[in-house]
Amino acid sequence: MNHTNKLNDGRKVGILGGTFNPIHSGHINIAKSALEECNLDEIWFIPNGCPPHKNVDDKVSAISRYKMVANTIANEDKFYINDIELSSIEYNYTHKTLEKLHNKFPNNKYYFIMGEDSLRCFDSWRKPEVICKYASIIVAIRSNNANSLSKLISEYAIRFNGEFILLNCDYIDISSTELRNTISKDNLYNTSNIEETTVSYISEHMLYEEYDYSSFNSIEDIKTDLVNILKPKRYNHTLGVMDTAINLGMRYDIPLYLCQYAGLLHDCAKSFTKEELISFCEDKNIEITDSEYKAPHLLHCKVGAYIARNKYNVTDERIINSILFHTTGRPNMSLLEQVVFVADYIEPNRCKANRLNEIRAMAYYDIDIATAMILQDTISYLTDIDAFIDDKTNKTYEYYLELIND
Ligand SMILES: [Fe+2]
Ligand SMILES: [Fe+2]
Repeated sequence: MNHTNKLNDGRKVGILGGTFNPIHSGHINIAKSALEECNLDEIWFIPNGCPPHKNVDDKVSAISRYKMVANTIANEDKFYINDIELSSIEYNYTHKTLEKLHNKFPNNKYYFIMGEDSLRCFDSWRKPEVICKYASIIVAIRSNNANSLSKLISEYAIRFNGEFILLNCDYIDISSTELRNTISKDNLYNTSNIEETTVSYISEHMLYEEYDYSSFNSIEDIKTDLVNILKPKRYNHTLGVMDTAINLGMRYDIPLYLCQYAGLLHDCAKSFTKEELISFCEDKNIEITDSEYKAPHLLHCKVGAYIARNKYNVTDERIINSILFHTTGRPNMSLLEQVVFVADYIEPNRCKANRLNEIRAMAYYDIDIATAMILQDTISYLTDIDAFIDDKTNKTYEYYLELIND
C-alpha cells in the first residue's frame, strides 16, 4: 500500500481531497490528468475524516473510505494516500490541512486539485488567501467551459494572490450519491465508473448494502433454542465465538449482524453424534465425502448450515458459507468466513492451544497471518496425535502460506 512519500521532501505534489464515498473513476482520471498535464511528481489522496457537528452519513466509516482509497490506488506508481485529515477529530478546513502539510514537508510545492463547481464558490471557503499561499490551484474543467471560467480565475488570482491552472481533462460527471444508491438498491453497479479494485473492496466488506434480516429467527430465539440443545461448555463456546466474531467484524469493517448470526450458529449441530450426523445427511440428501465418512464430526458444518437455513430461516448465503467452512477453511475465504474461522479458534473460553496469545493478537493485526498460524498449528496437532487431516485443511494452509509470503 502506498502511503505519503515522506522521504522525498522537495517534490511537486498534487493534493486530491474529498470524502471518496466511494472513490470512482472521476477521481482517478482527474489525478492522472493533473499528474501528466501539470508535470507533477506525485498525487496525494487525502480522504476527509468524520467532522463533528456535521450531519455525516457514517454508514461507511472514514476508516473504511480511507482503506478503500488505499486499496484502489495501491498499484499506481505515483499515487499516495495521506491520513492527515483522518487523524484529526476537528473539522478539516483546507487551509489548515495545507498549512500542516507545508510545515511537515516545507520543500514540497503543493497543487490543490478541485473541480470547477468548487471553484465557482471558492470565495465562500474559509481563508482562500491562505489556501493560495500554500498551494497553486488546479481546476479540472469540462473543456467547453474554459472561456466562462477564465474571467473568474483572473479575478481570484488577483484577489487571493494565487496561481490558478486550468486542467482540461476527461472530467466525468459522476455522482457519488447515485453510485451509492445503485449499489444499495441493486447490489449491481456500473463497473465502468468504479475501478475493479474498489468493486472488490466494496463487495468484500459489503459496504452500502441495505440489510434485511427480518425473516431470520431472532438472535434471542436462537439462543433460547441452543441453550437447551448444546452442552453448557459448547453453548458458552458458541457465545464466545459470536462475541469474538462481532469484535473482528468491527476491526475488519464488515456488517456485524452477519458476524453475530454466523458466530452463534456455527456449531448449532455440534450436539449430534457421528451416527446422527451421517443419518441426518443421508435423510436430507446432503452429500457425504470420503473424508467426511472417515471423520464424521466434520459433518457438523454441513448439518449446521442446513439447520441454520431450514430451522432458523437464515437465508444469507454468506452466513451459510461461513458455517460450512468454519472447521477446514477453504482457499480464498471471504472476510466473513475468515472471521468465523478465526473466532472459533481464539474465543476467550479456549485455553488449550499453543501460542494462543500470539494468534489472538495477530487476529486483530492481520487476519491472513492469523489464519495461516491457526492452520499450521491445527495440522501440526492432528499430525502429532495421528488423526485424520482433511485435504481441504492442507489446501487452505498452502493457500494462506503463499498469500502471506507474497
Ligand atoms: Fe465447529
Ligand atoms: Fe466451534
